[in-house]
Amino acid sequence: MANRLKASAIRIKTPVEIERMRKVCRLAAETLRRAGEMVRPGVTLLEIDKFVHDFTFDNGAYPAPLNYEGFPKSVCLSVNEVVTHGIPDGYELKEGDIVNIDVTSRLDGYHGDCSAMFRAGAVSPEAERLCKAAREAMMRGIGAVRPGAFFADVGEAIEDYCDELGYSVVRDYCGHGIGRGFHEEPLVLHYRNSQRIRMAAGMIFTVEPMVNAGGWQVRTLQDGWTTVTADGSLSAQEEHTILVTRDGYEILTVE
Ligand code: MF3
Ligand code: CO
Ligand code: CO
Repeated sequence: MANRLKASAIRIKTPVEIERMRKVCRLAAETLRRAGEMVRPGVTLLEIDKFVHDFTFDNGAYPAPLNYEGFPKSVCLSVNEVVTHGIPDGYELKEGDIVNIDVTSRLDGYHGDCSAMFRAGAVSPEAERLCKAAREAMMRGIGAVRPGAFFADVGEAIEDYCDELGYSVVRDYCGHGIGRGFHEEPLVLHYRNSQRIRMAAGMIFTVEPMVNAGGWQVRTLQDGWTTVTADGSLSAQEEHTILVTRDGYEILTVE
C-alpha cells in the first residue's frame, strides 16, 4: 500500500497552519519533558498518564490518544520489551526499566506528536546503548529531510545506522504526515525501501523509528494495543514532528 501513495495527496501546510503546528508541537514537547521528569523507581504508569491528561487539559488542549480508535488512556507508555502503544496501568516502574513516553497533543484542531526514552534509576549498559541508538537513529533520519529528497532516504539513513550497531528496525509501524489529522499521508518508512516520493517545503510529518536489540518482529497482545518484541528483546523509540523548510528541516516538537 505504501508505494501506491501519491505525492499529490501530501498536503503542503500554509504559513498559518505552520504557526499552529509550532504551537501544539511546543506544548507536546513540554508535556513530554515534564512527564519524563516523573520517571523513577516506584512511580506508576497511571500517575504519569494522569499528569499528561491534566496538564494537557490545563493548557486548553486534548490528549489525542484518549479514545483514539478505542485507546483508553491519554499517553502511550512502553516499558522494556514493549515496542509501542503500551497502555498505562498500575505497573510500578522499577530500577533499570526503560520507558518510551509518546505524547500527542491536539490544540486548535492541530496535532503535535513526540516521544522519547526515559530511565528509571540506573539502567544496564545494554539498555543505555539501545536508548542512545534510538535517538541517533531518529536524528539520522531527520538529517535526510530537505526539499527534493526522497522519503526513502529517511529509511535508508536509519536502517544503515542500526545495521552498523547490530540492531533491527521495526517494520510494522512507521512515521506519518500530521496536521489536522493525527495520522495523514504519507507513511514514513524507517527501513530501506523504494518509495519514490519527494519531499517539498511545507510538508509536516513524524520520524519515529522503533529499534530492537534483537529481531525486528513484533506481536500485539490480547488488549489489541500493547506491541512487544517477538523475541522478548529490549526496544527503544524516539519521535519528533518535522517541517520541511526551504533549505532543510525544522524540528517542531521542541520547547
Ligand atoms: N503516538 C503514536 C504515533 O506516534 C500513535 C498512538 S495511537 C494511540 O503515531 F491510540 F495508541 F494513542
Ligand atoms: Co507518530
Ligand atoms: Co507518537
